[in-house]
Amino acid sequence: MPDRAAIVTGASRGIGLALAEALGSEGFGLTITARKPHTLEQTARNLQDRGFDVAFLAANMADEEGIREVVRTHREHFGRLDVLVNNAGIGVGAAADEHQTKFVDMQLGVNLRAIVLFYRECIELLRFAGAEHHNALVVNMASLAGQSPQPWLSVYAATKAGVIAYTRAMNKELGADGIKSVAFCPGFVDTDMSEFVKDSIPAEKMLRTDDIVEALRFLLRVSPACVVPEITFQRPGEAI
Ligand SMILES: NC(=O)c1ccc[n+]([C@@H]2O[C@H](COP(=O)([O-])OP(=O)(O)OC[C@H]3O[C@@H](n4cnc5c(N)ncnc54)[C@H](OP(=O)(O)O)[C@@H]3O)[C@@H](O)[C@H]2O)c1
Repeated sequence: MPDRAAIVTGASRGIGLALAEALGSEGFGLTITARKPHTLEQTARNLQDRGFDVAFLAANMADEEGIREVVRTHREHFGRLDVLVNNAGIGVGAAADEHQTKFVDMQLGVNLRAIVLFYRECIELLRFAGAEHHNALVVNMASLAGQSPQPWLSVYAATKAGVIAYTRAMNKELGADGIKSVAFCPGFVDTDMSEFVKDSIPAEKMLRTDDIVEALRFLLRVSPACVVPEITFQRPGEAI
């Protein structure tokens, strides 16, 4: 049984998969989740083939019971939680007079509400780890859009600004329990999600998932005395 364990949401591909791989190679037991069962299972099997201890459960992060199930699965499998990565997210662009309610709700649900529910469901396990080593860590995936809101991606930006605010509140509320929270705020990263913009920003000019991984590795190594509440990842010349 690994002596550290992590949950990573949205881990079937993209940034979440890269962060899960990094945690696995650091010796963490992993519970990974995403919506599509087949892709998730494939990803989990690949990670297991690399020798990582991996549990997995497909769930929609907009669904409260799905979130409970993921945490239950993790608790049963590993019995402890040192790192929670709230990474799953979606973006649906629309003009202010064209927002469809279902897409507004979906972005609020997956990008923001899920994070609130994950803290609630994980708090006991996180407090246990925090009491033990004072370095329990929650990584919340925000976005540069949360710091510099853009037209058309307005709802997405608003959810990500909410993630930044919630992360700051959690540091004030849970810091004394040895639980640190960080909001990651990247600009465009070369993944499936940024496909829509690759005509104007080529993939090679985008951030790499490895850039995000390096930030996680750094956070795993800082002392209990050091809290890093927010990390902004920009491309050269990009302005907030
Ligand atoms: N790529 C960028 O340019 C960029 C920039 C800034 C911030 N971010 C943020 O980084 C995070 C990861 O982005 P990415 O680029 O890696 O995206 P991605 O390649 O599209 O991967 C998204 C992951 O989330 C899962 N997911 C999506 N909707 C879900 C839902 N309703 N319930 C559960 N899982 C769900 C997907 O699996 P399924 O499809 O199977 O559900 C997949 O595993 C997101 O929060 C995103 O907002 C991305």
